[in-house]
Amino acid sequence: MPAVAVRHLVEETSFMAKGGIRQNRKREGRLIVVSNRVADPKRDRKAGGLAVAVGETLEATGGGWFGWSGEVTPDARQSKPTIRLSDGIYIVTIDLTSEELDGFYFGFSNQCLWPILHYRIDLVHFEQDYYDKYRIVNRRFANALAQFLGPNDVIWIHDLHLIPMGAELRRHGANQPIGFFLHVPFPPPEVVAALPRHHDVFKDMMAYDLLGFQTQRDTACFRNYAMQEIGAVLQKDGSLQFAGHRTQCGAYPAGIDVESFARLSTNAEARKQIDYLRKSIGDRALIVGVDRLDYSKGLVERLTAYGQFLRTYRENRNKVVLMQVTPPSRETLESYVQIRRELDRLEGDINGEFGEMDWTPVRYIRRAISRSKLAALYRASRVGLVTPLRDGMNLVAKEYVAAQDENNPGVLILSRFAGAAEAMHQALIVNPHDVEQVAYALQMALHMPLEERRERHQALLATIRKEDVHAWSKAFLARLANTKSEFAGALPLNSSSQPHRSTKTATTRTA
Ligand code: UDP
Ligand code: G6P
Repeated sequence: MPAVAVRHLVEETSFMAKGGIRQNRKREGRLIVVSNRVADPKRDRKAGGLAVAVGETLEATGGGWFGWSGEVTPDARQSKPTIRLSDGIYIVTIDLTSEELDGFYFGFSNQCLWPILHYRIDLVHFEQDYYDKYRIVNRRFANALAQFLGPNDVIWIHDLHLIPMGAELRRHGANQPIGFFLHVPFPPPEVVAALPRHHDVFKDMMAYDLLGFQTQRDTACFRNYAMQEIGAVLQKDGSLQFAGHRTQCGAYPAGIDVESFARLSTNAEARKQIDYLRKSIGDRALIVGVDRLDYSKGLVERLTAYGQFLRTYRENRNKVVLMQVTPPSRETLESYVQIRRELDRLEGDINGEFGEMDWTPVRYIRRAISRSKLAALYRASRVGLVTPLRDGMNLVAKEYVAAQDENNPGVLILSRFAGAAEAMHQALIVNPHDVEQVAYALQMALHMPLEERRERHQALLATIRKEDVHAWSKAFLARLANTKSEFAGALPLNSSSQPHRSTKTATTRTA
């Protein structure tokens, strides 16, 4: 047997038979986290908020992380889960076929669910095949995971790609506590209702024991949707009753590991980066933006506002630099190609209109940079510009605050439409569509007295510490552990497929 296969088998055996991952003390079970994107944010530059929050949670609790490998396989039937151990976390992944990827990820997840949940009905492009592949992949994820589950495991599924997965696991007879967290916004019911097949998709959310949302607003919108569109009945404790099963729901704002991010911004590597940055921009004030290249991030409006700022408040010319870091995402989709084109054009326009021989007003980096470089960039800056048109939470806003020098902090400008704005009141809160207002906020931020900057920063720091990543996962998991799974029998479960643990081999042929 080749060495790789032997290692595979040993790791699989320990994952399955010994309950190889650290025990969750309270339930004496394992925490199994599931998400489409599985990444190690410490090593992987191309992080998004989900991977960062989940990675940091698992680092603290131990457990297993199940999801897509990022690889494409020619034949789903030949594809077996791969298991590796990384820093005490078992990472179990499966490949997808290119047809599955097109329909499930690029199709239904990113051309239907992503735009609708970010209030962009105009960008929804629905095809029946997208939806069919979305269901097939969710079923495939559930089939593969069901074989690893033990009776005391607690399962936490994440984000829009995997909404039906809980219901698919129930069809396997899984009666463990299963929770779901939505990292993106949930809009009012009349927006969601514009999505074809919305009933089928969101009805499956009622198979979970606990649903977590980023904000109170998202939670309220979901409750209204569930009552108006699905016929769920709201209980006195805020839970929803549907088809004999009760689903708890609540707001659990995702956070960051504040202390470890603060350390990143002050270590030797960061000091080196800050010196380097200082040399390259001189004594100009640095404004920083960090966002995936996505239409939800309000990048066009942001650059337009920056141009307006340079036009209106002329005294800042040649005294500021906007550094915009924008790693591309979902690049083949037309809406992403278009936003990229618009940004390239705007950057050229601003640099062309205002630039000097010795001054480039916008520096635009269109690739991912490491989190340690980001931490240094935040710390070296005077203003953090976080202006999404809609965002579930926006962890960059929290990272920006964590990275500041408490004695001389920068100012955060934050969109009222980011989930983070629900608690981060001491930021300069703006409407990202109002370019005059954002331009004015830039002027205020750059000229804000030190005392006010410190006061605002202290208050923001206290907020992000209170709502950090540990508080987020602890609160969610504690509530999940207390929900009693009453689901079996309430929906037409396939009673012949009882939960099982294979003891012979962990590698699975998926149908
Ligand atoms: N990020 C990164 N490198 C980059 C750009 C972003 O590591 O070049 C990280 C960033 O530090 C943050 C996450 O990606 O932790 C983005 O999360 P956020 O919630 O702000 O937005 P999302 O991308 O999830 O919509
Ligand atoms: C957001 C979503 C995540 C997603 C991430 C990166 O944070 O909520 O589910 O993983 O963006 O996007 P990608 O499509 O590259 O996974």
